[in-house]
Amino acid sequence: MAKKPSGKNTSGRGLRDLTVKVKTARGRRLSSTRWLQRQLNDPYVTRAKAEGYRGRAAFKIMEIDDKYRFLVPGARVVDLGCAPGGWLQVAVPRVNALGEKSGKKVGTILGIDLQEVEPLAGCDLHQLDFMDEGADEKVKEWLGGKADVVMSDMAASSSGHKQTDHLRIMSLCEAAAYFAFDVLEEGGTFVAKVLAGGAEGELQKLLKQKFTKVANYKPPSSRSDSSEKFVVASGFRG
Ligand SMILES: C[S@@+](CC[C@H](N)C(=O)[O-])C[C@H]1O[C@@H](n2cnc3c(N)ncnc32)[C@H](O)[C@@H]1O
Repeated sequence: MAKKPSGKNTSGRGLRDLTVKVKTARGRRLSSTRWLQRQLNDPYVTRAKAEGYRGRAAFKIMEIDDKYRFLVPGARVVDLGCAPGGWLQVAVPRVNALGEKSGKKVGTILGIDLQEVEPLAGCDLHQLDFMDEGADEKVKEWLGGKADVVMSDMAASSSGHKQTDHLRIMSLCEAAAYFAFDVLEEGGTFVAKVLAGGAEGELQKLLKQKFTKVANYKPPSSRSDSSEKFVVASGFRG
């Protein structure tokens, strides 16, 4: 039977420090060989497998939430771009979506993605482009009201051109922010992946107008060679 993830940060238990070398094979591009080698030697990939998570991304939301504490029992959460579901797996026990923590409020989790997501107990999952006309209304209907948390780990498909990719992810992130303005409850939290660099200032300015606090954080599990970081905006002004 598959292991049930605890949602807790067990900080590096069982990490492997052996380095696996991957030979360049005929037909495999150098970039694929490098990716494979990085995967095989990534302690978070090993940990995700050992602890039953659907991906290493689970550790990012764990570390972000350990610092900012928004996935609390009873929270109503919308996860934009939730596939394959690592963030959802962390959120389920933290918001008490299955009602397993007696005496604590029971949370609600709604996950949406362009792709189909394997079902997960405690989550209501929908295949949807959040930029579709009326997506915000659908989400509020499914949720039965507004959300306390909108979180996004969305990534636009890569063009291979650094500046283009940067602009693409920033506009995705800005669209996610406007989506959050429509579905968040006053006092709510918006968490999103951004890329450090040129276009991010505009988004920060916008968030500072709409939230009482805006922080930027690069969790330890985010690869140091990646320019990604996360913006955590709390205290939505409504
Ligand atoms: C990096 S993955 C998310 C990983 C996820 N946080 C996890 O822990 O498993 C990014 C996801 O964003 C989704 N995505 C990108 N654009 C989207 C859009 N416009 N609407 C919904 N989902 C989108 C992609 O399909 C992809 O599955």
